[in-house]
Amino acid sequence: MERKWWHKKVAYQIYPKSFYDTNGDGIGDLPGIIEKLDELKALGIDIIWLSPVYASPLADQGYDISDYRNIDPRFGTMDDMDRLLAEAKKRDMYIVMDLVVNHCSDEHEWFRRACEDPDGKYGKYFYIETVKDGKFPCNWRSYFGGPVWEKLPGHEDKYYLHVFHKKQPDLNWENPEVREEIYDMVNWWLDKGLAGFRIDAIINIKKALPFKDYPADRPDGLTSIGNMLRDAKGVGEFLGELRDRCFAPHEAFTVGEVFNEKAEEIPDFIGDSGYFSTMFDFAPTVFGQSGKGWHENADITPDEYRDCVFNTQKKIGEIGFISNIIENHDEPRGVSRYIPDGDQCEDSKKTLATGYFFLKGLPWIYQGQEIGMENKKFTSIEEVDDISSLDAYKVALADGVTEERALYALGKLSRDNARTPYQWDDTVNAGFGTGMPWLPVNPNYTEINLAAQKADPDSVYNYYKKLIALRKDPAYAETLVWGEMIPVRQDLHDIMAYYRKGENQTLLVVAAFGNENKVLPLPVKPKKILLSTLAGGKEPEFVETKDGWEAVLDGYLAFVAEL
Ligand code: GLC
Ligand code: CA
Repeated sequence: MERKWWHKKVAYQIYPKSFYDTNGDGIGDLPGIIEKLDELKALGIDIIWLSPVYASPLADQGYDISDYRNIDPRFGTMDDMDRLLAEAKKRDMYIVMDLVVNHCSDEHEWFRRACEDPDGKYGKYFYIETVKDGKFPCNWRSYFGGPVWEKLPGHEDKYYLHVFHKKQPDLNWENPEVREEIYDMVNWWLDKGLAGFRIDAIINIKKALPFKDYPADRPDGLTSIGNMLRDAKGVGEFLGELRDRCFAPHEAFTVGEVFNEKAEEIPDFIGDSGYFSTMFDFAPTVFGQSGKGWHENADITPDEYRDCVFNTQKKIGEIGFISNIIENHDEPRGVSRYIPDGDQCEDSKKTLATGYFFLKGLPWIYQGQEIGMENKKFTSIEEVDDISSLDAYKVALADGVTEERALYALGKLSRDNARTPYQWDDTVNAGFGTGMPWLPVNPNYTEINLAAQKADPDSVYNYYKKLIALRKDPAYAETLVWGEMIPVRQDLHDIMAYYRKGENQTLLVVAAFGNENKVLPLPVKPKKILLSTLAGGKEPEFVETKDGWEAVLDGYLAFVAEL
């Protein structure tokens, strides 16, 4: 694997709408991000991915773009964006935007023109089909529910394809003119000084054509898009072109939102000259998913979490550099998901943080993760905003479960869990802004907030600072960034342990879950403890046995040691 400048960095995702609101309209904005840049720098962040801030009706919170070359006034202006790029540069930080090009908004000019003249130039930018006798070209179910076909405004017999929401018509990547438009736009942003992109929903750009039905997998008679994707061959041709025309000439940093990649495709995606610099590991995210809906999804235990990420580590090996996360704007809070219910506390949050942070790959932090933000508790469906959660609720009820059970599933999995405003302090609305926030704050902000976290030397926040500092410490960086990752005693319950092995150095990372006392057998006594979750700088205990040594792990506890 070729070494890249960004391997040594630490990345952070901002969900702008919920980060920091400077003008009291209840919506986080670019000036808010600029104001907090020093805060992120102090934490140790280098690369920042912004969820979309382009002009948008916000039907899917900005993942429905009506103008790729403008900033939505609710987020600020292009001047603000330029200022953000300049301010980041001054601080040696890199800004990455979201590239949402599987679809645009139905309010994009291209789509408006397609409606005016479906047989003209812009009609060919989309998938528009004539529907006779009410039979759609295929029975695919959109990710947000219902058929992927929607009536083209102004036309009785014409329908357009949308694999996400009906306000997100799919762009037709088979049309070279569409690809040229996209490459032009991507290059325009990169020329502006953007460091790169997070590539949204990209696997969907290749459709299995001609359209056809697949066996229905729910009572609605529709079929999961996944069935079509398995048949869609050739996404690599589009992605290779995107790389060659845009990313490679700019040496852009890119991270792909790639689900369901096949093991043999990994080198194409993130090998030395792959389509992307890196891609997220979603193995623990998709674990337990049921085809029937969120209400049927299984929880994940710490052992299953460990096995998922270890499996990815093995699969990736030396091929490339994966991106490690515990949450993002589409997922529940990691501490609420991977730590069993009721065990959420400072120690367990630090333990989870240690376990994922030193895996081989680029560590990402999603806003609020560093202060231990947790899932929201929903008491009524009225409190839910997210379109995909609203659909999951409907699906659950249609499947015969109670409202209570359906709401419970949203509490576990709703995208709104991680979209509540950032908890800056314990003042009204968590210090997010002076106006009523677009989504209510999590009531636990009086206890969980940045100001309180900063004041406590043993807080989750101060621990994240130490994690980042250790990964960047010149004495260990070589090993922690590039060293081999070797699982340790994966057979042990509730223990996630691994070596990071460099040429002349072996580091041991241990994260012990659960409240029971346990031990981890070790061949030797560690030379030096580099970091531990124990308060006040206390070191974990090691006892000698007849075969070697044991680390004593009482309850949630994690440490990093040099052997
Ligand atoms: C990605 C985004 C998600 C969005 C979807 C459609 O999965 O992360 O938020 O709804 O794509 O753009
Ligand atoms: Ca605002």
